[in-house]
Amino acid sequence: MSSLVDRTVLITGAARGIGRACAVACAAEGADVALMDIGGDCEAVPYQLGSISQLHATADQCRSFGASALVLTGDVRSSRDCCATVQRTLERYGKCDALINSAGIAAPSGSAVHEMTESQWSLMLDVNLSGAWRMIHEVAPAMIHARHGSVVNVASTAGLVAYRNFAAYVAAKHGLVGLSKAAALDLAPFRIRVNALCPGSVRDTEATEGRMLREIAKSLGLGGEDHEAAFIQSQPMNSLIEPQDVADAAVWLVSDGSTQMTGTALPVDGGFSAK
Ligand SMILES: NC(=O)c1ccc[n+]([C@@H]2O[C@H](COP(=O)([O-])OP(=O)(O)OC[C@H]3O[C@@H](n4cnc5c(N)ncnc54)[C@H](O)[C@@H]3O)[C@@H](O)[C@H]2O)c1
Repeated sequence: MSSLVDRTVLITGAARGIGRACAVACAAEGADVALMDIGGDCEAVPYQLGSISQLHATADQCRSFGASALVLTGDVRSSRDCCATVQRTLERYGKCDALINSAGIAAPSGSAVHEMTESQWSLMLDVNLSGAWRMIHEVAPAMIHARHGSVVNVASTAGLVAYRNFAAYVAAKHGLVGLSKAAALDLAPFRIRVNALCPGSVRDTEATEGRMLREIAKSLGLGGEDHEAAFIQSQPMNSLIEPQDVADAAVWLVSDGSTQMTGTALPVDGGFSAK
């Protein structure tokens, strides 16, 4: 029997990349999914974000497994949007068993800590750290009422170690690991688990239309056609991580197969952080 039958999972950043892979993997395991994404560009982010048509494409893929998929546009920088996202999920499904926070940005980055602007710093923290907190803040009351829930925050190896010229991203992802641990302690009495996933370098695939790795490469000065090779060099398993690898771990953390897992920061990094 599939592991997420009768579960409702809310996923942010679901238009593409890791968020899409998580959504489709949850649907394949029997869950109904609520899919949230900004569905359009953000002025200060120097690359295209997920589009509404990509978000609908994720929903179609989920429905191909027989899942119900609710499409919601919203910006995790907005408390009102996060509140509306959770409310509409609860109206439609009557519950929210799990939240996967995958919405995130990689840029503006590429400047040393003393060279970035305050607005660049604030934007990164607002999306990659405060966005996850807003979603947890909104969903927690319903999970507390149900005495049941699992939250998965998609952090990064940048939540475990630092990278040059990436201070705001590194700080946000370290913060997200800390938030996951703190929320795990606060919510444990209500049988709600909170964990962080720390992916290494994840391949941008046509299937998920992700483009984060290209943006990270640009910021680290690893641009060009062979940026994947540059990342592979640092991976003990000699390959990039696939979005599906991260999704498999997320499904496990959402499922009853991991009932004693909480407050962890689980690397999905081919051994990168073991070095
Ligand atoms: N790709 C990697 O190598 C990698 C590695 C480690 C961690 N991560 C993390 O995984 C998560 C997903 O990354 P990805 O590779 O799928 O990237 P991606 O850019 O392909 O997808 C991110 C999604 O988040 C959405 N988003 C961005 N800002 C938003 C906002 N303010 N509100 C709502 N949605 C917003 C985008 O529209 C996009 O659809 C991110 O948090 C990222 O930091 C990625």
